[in-house]
Amino acid sequence: MELTVKQLNTERFGELNGLFDMSPYLDYAQKRLENLTSGRELCLIAELEGKLTGEINIMFENENVPEAVIPNRRAYIFALRVKEWARGVGIGKILVAEAVDACVSRGYSEQTVGVEPNNKPALRIYESAGFKPFIGNMREKSPDGGEYAFDLLLRTGFRARQPAPEVSPPVNPPSSF
Ligand SMILES: CC(C)(COP(=O)(O)OP(=O)(O)OC[C@H]1O[C@@H](n2cnc3c(N)ncnc32)[C@H](O)[C@@H]1OP(=O)(O)O)[C@@H](O)C(=O)NCCC(=O)NCCS
Repeated sequence: MELTVKQLNTERFGELNGLFDMSPYLDYAQKRLENLTSGRELCLIAELEGKLTGEINIMFENENVPEAVIPNRRAYIFALRVKEWARGVGIGKILVAEAVDACVSRGYSEQTVGVEPNNKPALRIYESAGFKPFIGNMREKSPDGGEYAFDLLLRTGFRARQPAPEVSPPVNPPSSF
């Protein structure tokens, strides 16, 4: 199955609702769209056979968690999501590798990411990409207005990513696929 990773064209922003329904959080959605349009953020999408299957986002400026971003040096990776039926075949790993690559190629030699300590798949991906614990127990506002607690992990170094692994077909794609 062919997997492609590319930058989201903001005209397709609404399609991201298929990965995380932003319709109840209009302020959050509007802010994200503004940030993507202004270049403060970058969204990479994964498509399997041309269908949107995953996303990962990079924030180059951030006021909420100052340790997460240093202008022109440290970028913050967030909102890694893969459709449930496509999980476990390596798409998350590829998205992280591509996001690190996108940071490095723009001169951001450090990348941070916030991961909930019980999110084992995400932790495994980020640790295998070279992220290490940085500062524990950070807090940020979540789209629903609540608070989101996470560990902030840091990856440093310009080393280019390893070639992306092959993706095997998902076990249970939807019948319309
Ligand atoms: C986290 C997420 C993006 C992973 O995507 P994915 O495409 O399934 O990930 P991959 O297939 O690339 O790999 C997952 C890794 O986690 C491992 N993994 C999967 N489920 C696991 C589990 N329950 N416990 C421990 N490890 C697990 C896999 O073995 C693999 O590691 P390996 O290649 O070293 O064996 C996906 O689960 C998701 O969208 N979750 C909901 C949103 C989310 O939590 N995002 C992360 C926010 S920080």
